[in-house]
Amino acid sequence: MQTIPIVGLGTWKLWCTYHKKSLVRTACTNTLKALNLKYLDLYLIHWPMGFKPGEKDVPLDCNGMVIPSNTNFLDTWEAMEDLVIEGLVKHIGVSNFNHEQLEKLLNKPGLRFCPITNQIECHPYLNQKNLIEFCHKRNVSVTAYRPLGGSIDGVDLLDDLVIRKISKKHGKSPAQILIRFQIQRNVIVIPKSVTPSRIRENFQVFDFELTEKDMEELLSLNKNLRLATFPLTENHKDYPFHIEY
Ligand SMILES: NC(=O)c1ccc[n+]([C@@H]2O[C@H](COP(=O)([O-])OP(=O)(O)OC[C@H]3O[C@@H](n4cnc5c(N)ncnc54)[C@H](OP(=O)(O)O)[C@@H]3O)[C@@H](O)[C@H]2O)c1
Repeated sequence: MQTIPIVGLGTWKLWCTYHKKSLVRTACTNTLKALNLKYLDLYLIHWPMGFKPGEKDVPLDCNGMVIPSNTNFLDTWEAMEDLVIEGLVKHIGVSNFNHEQLEKLLNKPGLRFCPITNQIECHPYLNQKNLIEFCHKRNVSVTAYRPLGGSIDGVDLLDDLVIRKISKKHGKSPAQILIRFQIQRNVIVIPKSVTPSRIRENFQVFDFELTEKDMEELLSLNKNLRLATFPLTENHKDYPFHIEY
């Protein structure tokens, strides 16, 4: 039987070693080839920081810190826009941009396409209230990554007492509470699981509603606890997490 290539699918990201304008198209076409696709639905700049191009995904100097490239995310964005015009991607967006970086991008002279989303770490311990407000006011959607807290040592959001209490009240799992929390804030949410029963569970979030009090309680858990800090890149000129949001 002949395999029919799927024409477009999902979200993919441009890695930091491909920020040079001349490399953006190569990165995208490599992805399309690997996936046997004609176009991507959504392509994001993974981080605002460009790294030295080459074989290593994270090239390091003798101090163990990332070696930057001399690129600027505004130039990278122009090459992303070219991909839309060429039909290789349908939409473009960013990830891990702080509000100043996003503002810079939105104010870029000659901007042809606005970023459709900013994909950021977001969960009750890092509720991103200010950045979400900022994005929504400017018509940029927000996508919450690591919405369940991932699987990081010492942090177990799913075991939080407040989340468990709310989960018990609604007869839903803690994961479902965390997913519903984002939906009710008008935030796109991308929980990840390799377990079929959990994948099913994570979809069953449209048959209940958190109350205003539940939402307030979940928001009050904020402790600005960022899990994805990417410490090797802290000295980069475009490191996004030196400012509050
Ligand atoms: N833009 C970025 O820089 C960035 C960074 C990190 C992640 N992401 C994206 O964000 C998405 C999710 O992030 P993530 O995987 O880091 O974090 P996550 O979705 O918050 O957590 C995933 C962990 O939760 C477990 N899990 C999933 N559903 C569950 C459930 N119903 N009950 C209990 N445990 C459950 C998974 O276990 P099992 O898989 O074993 O079921 C896995 O260990 C991914 O698509 C990822 O690519 C983006």
